[in-house]
Amino acid sequence: MVLFEPLQLGSIQIPNRFAVPAMVTRLSGDDGFVNDGIIERYRRFAEGGAGLIVVEASSIHGGKSGPLLKISDDEFIPGMAALADACHTAGEGKVFLQIIHFLKVARSGWRQKVSDLSVEELELLPDLFADAAVRAMEAGLDGVELHMAHAYTLSSMLSRMNRRRDHYGRTIENRLRLPSMVMQRVKDRVGDFPVGVRFLADESIRRGYSADDASLFAIRFAELGAAYISLSVGGKFEDAVQREGQPLYPYTGYSGDRCMPGDSYPDAANIWLVKIIRDGLRAAGHTTPVLGAGKIGTVELAEKVLGGAAPAESTAESAAGPAPAGPDSASCDIVGMARGLLADPYLPRKAMNGHRDEVVQCIYCNVCKSLDESFKTVVCYLWPKGAIQAPRPQETRAGPAWGDEQELVTKVGPGEVRLRWSKPEHGEASGYDVLRSVDGGDYAVITSCTRTRHLDDMALRNQSLRYRVVPYDRSGFRGQSSNVVEVELDEVAL
Ligand SMILES: Cc1cc2nc3c(=O)[nH]c(=O)nc-3n(C[C@H](O)[C@H](O)[C@H](O)COP(=O)(O)O)c2cc1C
Repeated sequence: MVLFEPLQLGSIQIPNRFAVPAMVTRLSGDDGFVNDGIIERYRRFAEGGAGLIVVEASSIHGGKSGPLLKISDDEFIPGMAALADACHTAGEGKVFLQIIHFLKVARSGWRQKVSDLSVEELELLPDLFADAAVRAMEAGLDGVELHMAHAYTLSSMLSRMNRRRDHYGRTIENRLRLPSMVMQRVKDRVGDFPVGVRFLADESIRRGYSADDASLFAIRFAELGAAYISLSVGGKFEDAVQREGQPLYPYTGYSGDRCMPGDSYPDAANIWLVKIIRDGLRAAGHTTPVLGAGKIGTVELAEKVLGGAAPAESTAESAAGPAPAGPDSASCDIVGMARGLLADPYLPRKAMNGHRDEVVQCIYCNVCKSLDESFKTVVCYLWPKGAIQAPRPQETRAGPAWGDEQELVTKVGPGEVRLRWSKPEHGEASGYDVLRSVDGGDYAVITSCTRTRHLDDMALRNQSLRYRVVPYDRSGFRGQSSNVVEVELDEVAL
């Protein structure tokens, strides 16, 4: 499988194409130092086998930021070194640090814009980024990723909303000027230490840019020697929802939904944009690897977007397009799974060892996103109650098992089916997959949940439905299926 093949990123090689894209954990204190919780979070990603681990956005300047890692001073190097060391000891994956510059936001809703900054202030940024990259290198990390995505300073420079009237605004060359200076300065200071870049494939706001601009950005960063190009979508201040007394959070509007597409979005929701940009890059003669992300949560789908042969059971035909014929039909070269690997950091290892059925599958409920928004420790809804880290897979397994009783019952209403089940009698269930078959077709997981009930409101009238529930333990090991319940949906008046 392409997914399990190594890939060269500049001067280093990653052992496979699974990537943990940067994901703020809110585990650090306001002081910005690496602590034990942070190390444990990333140790699990490394143990789990991801080929590339991008450590969460870390600030390159001293600005107030709440719980966010910092790399703005040499005093942060020892913590980063401990983090790098823990990951390198635990696995083969390479560890990059995402470095970020952001502007001020206030609880009143006011926010500083790039048009408020003087040229002198802007021109401090290349050295701030370069100093941070040198610290990351000294800490023994394997590379840095320049954060030019979402609502932050460099993204706002690239944005079509950058209306500066000087040589840093409006035209695409001007919008690229500062980000290019940053990339150039960092490269000049770190030699062949790999420098990746993350920017938006599409801003997902009115009058924002889309893949045409992003394709030109990609060509520029490839020319400047980016080790890889990581593409995200949305996450902007322009459409963020103002909440009384709270600073703007750039993931509350439509562009925020597009950044972290929830359960109502199709799988691989953003990959078509990534493909346009990667194709443009290849047509311009650049081989720079491209990382795509956005609701790519299964091995089957990951392999498909990488251009490998799509296994027959893949369910993401609509978003990822028809089965590709060869490597050039790839949409990306590295698969970013943020929430998927938060739910189960051991997914890559389970997949490599042929235990795909033991994966705790992300359901894109976005509880993690809400926690990030309120500066609370980011955990996964599917982890055992109260856990602040993903559980490690257990060596011995006895999956949860039901007793002899009929455990699953349903109640049918107009256009909805309510399901309830009892807890398994043997073993402890950490969660439950709810499976449904429509009109005699194959069963598909419609949700995973930790509660013992589910409301299916995605049923159409006149459908013949069958349901069953499969419990899993804290390692994702599936136990015995429940009884099957058949339901005929009532005629609903139109
Ligand atoms: C809790 C949380 C924190 C995130 N923090 C960052 C971040 O620090 N930097 C970044 O570039 N993206 C961040 N993202 C976006 C992810 O990297 C990723 O692009 C997005 O979640 C879509 O990928 P997914 O569908 O695999 O989750 C964050 C996402 C989540 C859910």
